[in-house]
Amino acid sequence: MNRDVDQTRLLAWLRENDPARLEALWRLADDTRRAGVGNAVHLRGLIEISNHCVRQCAYCGLRAGNRALARYRMNETEIVAAAWQACALGYGTVVLQAGEDTGLEGHWVARVVRRIKTETGLAVTLSLGERTEAEWAQWREAGADRYLLRFETSDRALFEAIHPGRGGPPADRLAMLARLRQLGYEIGSGIMIGIPGQTFESVARDLQLFRELDLDMIGIGPYIPHPDTPLGRGRVSTAPAGQQVPNVEGMVYKVLALARLLCPEANIPSTTALATINKRDGRELGLQRGANVWMPNLTPMPYRRLYQIYPAKACLEETADAADRRLRERLAALGRQAGSGPGSRKRVPAAAPAPAAQMLQCCER
Ligand code: 5AD
Repeated sequence: MNRDVDQTRLLAWLRENDPARLEALWRLADDTRRAGVGNAVHLRGLIEISNHCVRQCAYCGLRAGNRALARYRMNETEIVAAAWQACALGYGTVVLQAGEDTGLEGHWVARVVRRIKTETGLAVTLSLGERTEAEWAQWREAGADRYLLRFETSDRALFEAIHPGRGGPPADRLAMLARLRQLGYEIGSGIMIGIPGQTFESVARDLQLFRELDLDMIGIGPYIPHPDTPLGRGRVSTAPAGQQVPNVEGMVYKVLALARLLCPEANIPSTTALATINKRDGRELGLQRGANVWMPNLTPMPYRRLYQIYPAKACLEETADAADRRLRERLAALGRQAGSGPGSRKRVPAAAPAPAAQMLQCCER
């Protein structure tokens, strides 16, 4: 495929505002989702095991410099209990997520992973930030199945501006993802939409990168300003006039739909960040415009409100049990059902017409 042509088409879609054309995009994304990953919505129980973080990311409320936030770290018993709750609710996967917390020692994480795997049989996804290769290898050895590490933006200068290093060379998250894949993990990455300084061109490149990396999982959500962060205190965009991507709901759907067209087999969540900016039906619209995964929050309530990467997160109102009942009603209303089993990435034989080619056709005006 001619990459430059494709880039032009992607850009046109990202700037599209015609309601009828957007309807066609949503429909194509939904059809591609059905053909690529089916009608099941996989449920991944999210356990936010620590909100400590050594990083100073300019956008994130967990940043080390945020002294306004009380910090917690769940213990092994609490984490395993939350995993059992995932089991009881019929979920096939738990996601252990934290800030980049060096207090979560490698061998301790390995022990928790091994316990969850042997006791519950659940698939385990880790989302613990930039750790050492030795730790990643040890966790894989302990049975971890998947690793999430968003590259946030393919614009290197922007990434380095919002994600300061810790003394060494700048982080190369693409190289890290390649390493994780070599270790045998399913790999997930993704971006925020509407970071100040993020251009349409860079998002079109992000989308291309999803495809080039052959991601198993793709997380896409709006950037939500957090008042206790440098970016949230109102740093102005460095993007040239007319180039700044807005952090609005409609943009998130466009990127979600295009990601689905480019990566028909990927597991793509309808994210909490999206549900936060549209509490009424953001989750549903995500599932109808490309997404096939829902990540219900299983973090114990007192900790949950402290895992404040951005304010007013959509998961603070209900306990896991109540949220689970609501979630199933909402899926039924969409005509979708909860997935069973681990919901790993399945490779589809290349019999179906290449969706990206379909998209190009659909772009002909
Ligand atoms: N708004 C939206 N998403 C955020 N994340 C971190 N801070 C914010 C924010 N202010 C996202 C990042 C990170 C993921 C766990 O949460 O993309 O990778």
